[in-house]
Amino acid sequence: MRYLILCAWIVGLVGAVIGLPSFVINFDEAATTRYNKIFHHYRNQIVEMENDMMHSIAPSYRQLFIDNVDKFAISNPEAYQAMSALANITSLPLWQTLLVNAVVDITSFCTSVVGVMTDGTVIHGRNLDFDFPTVLQPLVYRAYISRKGVIVGEGACIAGYIGFYTAIRYGSFSISYNVRMYPHTNTSEITANILREWEPGVVPAAQAIERALLDNNTFHDASTYLQEQPLNTPCYLILAGVAGVKGANEGVVITRDPYGVNATHSLDVENGVWYVAQGNLDWWLTNDTRYQSTVTYLEALGRDQLNMETLVTDVLNKTGVVQLMTIFTASMSASKQALDVYLTPLPQ
Ligand SMILES: *[C@@H]1O[C@H](CO)[C@@H](O)[C@H](O)[C@H]1NC(C)=O
Ligand SMILES: *[C@@H]1O[C@H](CO)[C@@H](O)[C@H](O)[C@H]1NC(C)=O
Ligand SMILES: *[C@@H]1O[C@H](CO)[C@@H](O)[C@H](O)[C@H]1NC(C)=O
Ligand SMILES: *[C@@H]1O[C@H](CO)[C@@H](O)[C@H](O)[C@H]1NC(C)=O
Ligand SMILES: *[C@@H]1O[C@H](CO)[C@@H](O)[C@H](O)[C@H]1NC(C)=O
Ligand SMILES: *[C@@H]1O[C@H](CO)[C@@H](O)[C@H](O)[C@H]1NC(C)=O
Repeated sequence: MRYLILCAWIVGLVGAVIGLPSFVINFDEAATTRYNKIFHHYRNQIVEMENDMMHSIAPSYRQLFIDNVDKFAISNPEAYQAMSALANITSLPLWQTLLVNAVVDITSFCTSVVGVMTDGTVIHGRNLDFDFPTVLQPLVYRAYISRKGVIVGEGACIAGYIGFYTAIRYGSFSISYNVRMYPHTNTSEITANILREWEPGVVPAAQAIERALLDNNTFHDASTYLQEQPLNTPCYLILAGVAGVKGANEGVVITRDPYGVNATHSLDVENGVWYVAQGNLDWWLTNDTRYQSTVTYLEALGRDQLNMETLVTDVLNKTGVVQLMTIFTASMSASKQALDVYLTPLPQ
């Protein structure tokens, strides 16, 4: 097992598309057992990751989870059951597995881009940036999403976490999640994000994305659902469809407030808007150098040179866009049914 992962990591060093470990996740199976193969496979690395995360999380959050474990059983049975299985497999306390699973609400960064090639193909790239890249990168795997006996899509996931942050539904849409840093920056706001998880009807963003992947057939349906579903945290949901030809423009950055939408930025190919990009800030209100670098590289590349490879080599992997904490870069296309994952070379 260890050899397999080490090997994947070394291949990642030379920048090739690596053969990630892959697992089928059967969403017709109860969450109590659905992730067990993955949890067993990565058991030791998950324990290491959980312990590293705990060292960086303020003690106030620990008490919040210790005191409220049972609330998850009611508000989010899927997370509760999956994390109960993980706790049993790893011998870690349940409150800890639930807390670490929610850590994206506490800290993470990212860049996402949707672009339209000259032939109308919509492509979608993202850097996943997170603390502890050396601990998290060996946990990256490819999840095939099985629903009613059919593989409907796939995602690039991190073992120990449920839901999706980077995924495609074949022939329908691709999606990525970026943290929204405002309002998301101080302890009381993060606590508010956590407390919101227990409100009836509120779903953590990664699980809302999962529902869209399972239940929505089109870009339009996923976009509508992801604009309306109450979420626990402000965030950016970046969605790309299959049609970038005149009039379709299936690409949007949805800037979410937990209970509504603050902004949408859509493709508008007829009027020269052949890409949309997003970092972790409302760039139209605040200067965001990572967003500006991304746009500069996209403009330098040009629409006629844009494809799934150049989006990585000439934009997402460039200085000022790629970060020291980037774990992977993904390049996706729902119409091509492709999700390429490049593990970022990490400092030794
Ligand atoms: C990204 O850049 C690094 C450093 O220049 C390089 O080692 C790596 O191969 C590149 N990755 C991709 C996917 O191009
Ligand atoms: C984990 O173990 C506890 C205690 O034995 C048990 O009650 C619970 O059902 C187990 N969780 C899962 C998902 O199997
Ligand atoms: C956190 O930020 C909000 C504004 O976004 C402010 O109202 C609140 O007082 C801040 N809390 C702390 C503890 O700084
Ligand atoms: C999209 O998925 C959501 C979440 O499961 C569901 O509530 C909604 O009805 C779906 N939309 C359509 C049009 O199927
Ligand atoms: C976002 O929208 C909500 C309503 O949905 C509003 O209460 C909030 O003030 C808005 N926030 C920002 C930063 O625009
Ligand atoms: C962004 O920075 C430029 C200078 O680099 C400045 O002119 C502009 O006012 C800033 N915009 C915002 C919204 O802060």
